[in-house]
Amino acid sequence: MSNPPWNKKSWQNFTALQQPNWPDQTAYKEVVEEIATLPPLVFAGEIRDLKKQLAQVSQGNAFLLQGGDCAEEFAMCTAPGIRELLKVILQMAVIISYAGGKPVVKVGRIAGQYAKPRSADTEIVNGVEMPSYRGDMVNRIDPTPEARKPDPARMREGYFRACSTMNILRAFTRGGFASLDRVHAWNNEFVKNSPQGQMYEKLAKNIDQAINFMQLIGLDTEIPQIKQASFFTSHEALLLGYEEALTRQDSTTGDWYDCSAHMVWIGDRTRQLDGAHIEFLRGVLNPIGMKVGPGHDIDELKKIIVTLNPDNEAGRLTLITRFGAKKISDYLPRLAREMRQEGFNLVWSCDPMHGNTYTAASGYKTRNFDLILQEIRAFFEIHWSEGTQPGGVHFELTGENVTECTGGGRNILDEQLVNNYLTNCDPRLNAEQSLELAFQLAEMLR
Ligand code: PEP
Ligand code: CO
Repeated sequence: MSNPPWNKKSWQNFTALQQPNWPDQTAYKEVVEEIATLPPLVFAGEIRDLKKQLAQVSQGNAFLLQGGDCAEEFAMCTAPGIRELLKVILQMAVIISYAGGKPVVKVGRIAGQYAKPRSADTEIVNGVEMPSYRGDMVNRIDPTPEARKPDPARMREGYFRACSTMNILRAFTRGGFASLDRVHAWNNEFVKNSPQGQMYEKLAKNIDQAINFMQLIGLDTEIPQIKQASFFTSHEALLLGYEEALTRQDSTTGDWYDCSAHMVWIGDRTRQLDGAHIEFLRGVLNPIGMKVGPGHDIDELKKIIVTLNPDNEAGRLTLITRFGAKKISDYLPRLAREMRQEGFNLVWSCDPMHGNTYTAASGYKTRNFDLILQEIRAFFEIHWSEGTQPGGVHFELTGENVTECTGGGRNILDEQLVNNYLTNCDPRLNAEQSLELAFQLAEMLR
């Protein structure tokens, strides 16, 4: 199948699902045009670097750790908010690489994860019908029709908040905060005394000793591998006007990159072969993620994969499966087998969050730690037995001490969800639950 020529606007000739109904089209166009003149958030060279690292993941030489909020919030665009998330991801990566024996590619759901697909355009709150909350870049979560009106000024604000987030991330990861001789300092106060926190302290001590030993025998430890962390950004490429505005031509190669983030993904609800999202993403050279849930059609997926990655380039495409613990063994074995038979170069990643969501008796949307772990275990076992690589994981998590997912070391119960349930969208693992999963992952990798 040969496709007509691509350009950054060609998606506009296709159906784009899950777009807000911007009431003021003129204001919307003005914002998009303004963003198109503003600097990119990331550079093509960084995007190419991530793709190379993901190619290593597809070959089993590295592990992908992707995580962050379900819906990033403007109000959490603060130094502590960003730092706490970064800390947990750095801790998880140290655990997985040190105890699991594989380099970890770290990718945040951050600096642009401001737009959400929803199951319905409107919802009824206290008897009043209003547009659904679609993420801070579109409308406000407050349950009033006024707050829920899509406002393009929020898209401009999203761009600037993403820039601000990116800026502090670059400072944290390059300016010494993420240095491996500071691993102890990443341990969160509320986690420190838990069994996970103590296991982490032990591991941090070992790393300290290794670095001290290197210094003792005269090796230089003032090197980027120790002093800096590489950290990439990602979000769902949902609002195509925003993505188009940040799509830029690389002056050194003439290629097009979506410079809103290093990696972008297509949600399970917007990956139609003939849809606008696939059309847009086929033309940018970023690493692309694609969510795959129980509703997939294997033949359509094969066509999508060829469309997105006609040269079968390793590192270009990550399939993020999200079947749920109960369904994964019904779907993943056949999917993995057929993709292997096609010879597709893929990174296989497991999203153990979105297939395990349910509403608790207390009325809160939640996920249970054991089911999350069960899906990850099944993911590893199925890939091992099919001869494909279990390449990574995709989590919704936060550095805050939230009570949004049940279970884990502290065994959060349904009736405790109310204590600190803060998410605007899906429930996230807290820092302690995240570390616990990282230790489990390290064991599976070993
Ligand atoms: C998400 O990652 O928050 C999401 C909406 O996932 P999915 O597309 O898998 O439903
Ligand atoms: Co989510």
